[in-house]
Amino acid sequence: MALSPEALQSWWMPFTANRYFKAHPRLIVEAQGAYYTLADGRRVFDCLSGMWCTPLGHAHPGVVQAVQRQVQKLDFSPTFQIGHPDAFELAARIAALAGREQDRVFFVNSGSEAVDTALKVAIAYHRARGEATRTRLIGRERAYHGVGLGGLSVGGIGANRKMFTSLMPSGIDHLPHTYSPRDMAFTRGQPDWGKHLADELERLVALHDASTIAAVIVEPVQGSTGVIVPPRGYLERLREICTRHGILLIFDEVITGLGRLGRPFAAQYFGVRPDLITFAKAITNGVVPMGGVLVSADIYEAFMTGPPHAIEFFHGHTYSGHPLAVAAAHASLDALTGEGLIERAAALAPLLERAAHGLRGEPHVIDIRNIGLTAAVELAPYTGQPGVVALQVFERALSEGLLVRYAGDVIELAPPFISTEQQIESMIEALRRCLRAVPAA
Ligand SMILES: Cc1ncc(COP(=O)(O)O)c(C=O)c1O
Repeated sequence: MALSPEALQSWWMPFTANRYFKAHPRLIVEAQGAYYTLADGRRVFDCLSGMWCTPLGHAHPGVVQAVQRQVQKLDFSPTFQIGHPDAFELAARIAALAGREQDRVFFVNSGSEAVDTALKVAIAYHRARGEATRTRLIGRERAYHGVGLGGLSVGGIGANRKMFTSLMPSGIDHLPHTYSPRDMAFTRGQPDWGKHLADELERLVALHDASTIAAVIVEPVQGSTGVIVPPRGYLERLREICTRHGILLIFDEVITGLGRLGRPFAAQYFGVRPDLITFAKAITNGVVPMGGVLVSADIYEAFMTGPPHAIEFFHGHTYSGHPLAVAAAHASLDALTGEGLIERAAALAPLLERAAHGLRGEPHVIDIRNIGLTAAVELAPYTGQPGVVALQVFERALSEGLLVRYAGDVIELAPPFISTEQQIESMIEALRRCLRAVPAA
């Protein structure tokens, strides 16, 4: 099934080179398990689990049936001043999975909304406690926190930010990113170099004074800019500094949440307890949009003042806690926990590490990184043409039976947790053939 140029005209596609795409359309028409089917009938292995969304693989029967049942039973329900039982149960389940039973969950519909919600909670929390001067937010270079104005502001990708400076609030600062190829290229797992970069937070505290700073937000592993793995001790050190200065620490776990590192949340993997955790994507296996923020009980309690009939937090979305998303999330959690898939991700991680690092020495490859069930292969860019070598690998990979995703010149890999060992090995061997086939600059 090919669409005419006219048929492709109207959709202004997100984060896409629209003119290139419409000249070279690539259409997905079906998905089952770890594979997509393209419009020309080819089956391709889903190397990035959708966009980090589908650890269970596509069309998981439990999720499909749960959504089908739910749409017949309760298709929509308002959630302002009224609720539906399954959403309360889901919130408790997520908190328990994170090992934070007392915490509260605020539901939204995407990662971007989760981030903006977390930032608003942080600022409003300090104000509720009488520290209204704590409004400054600190993000990090190379961070991706979605496209809301809060997430853009604390994010650290120049191309995303440059058009919108006028819309960004003042009072935002950034920590340096932790990627240094000279000090960590080809590291397996967490690099030993770089913990000291957390001390940059002390510098920002000295510059602005802790009394002006509300929160620090970081992705525990920077996903969208190419699987940047935190140096050993770095997140722990950030936690210490935040605690010492009364600054909230937010982990943006939109990618790492729900098992990608082989533990339910990266916070558990690293043994660091942030005050807030954002999640999205895998919570519903990507089937219905949903995101959320896990909020420490003491933060929630700080809002619970004033007359009991008064709204405590003026924030929410029409679709917060949407019944279809809630049903998909319950079924996804049933599968993740009931089928032992988080443990499976942990068990497959060493295999992915070994296989991915086996690409060292192949043409174009200048770094390989990995943690949990994710890895990245960084390629030397063609001179003056960033992104083109990765685009060529992407195109070539389609004919090798792989759907890879690339960010800049980094090929990112995050296969579904249901993948077999053989599928992971085949994915890497197919990628090897692509690297060899793509011409030198
Ligand atoms: C860490 C992180 N935060 C936020 C987002 C934004 O999520 P969404 O695209 O669902 O708005 C993403 C998306 O990839 C992400 O990786």
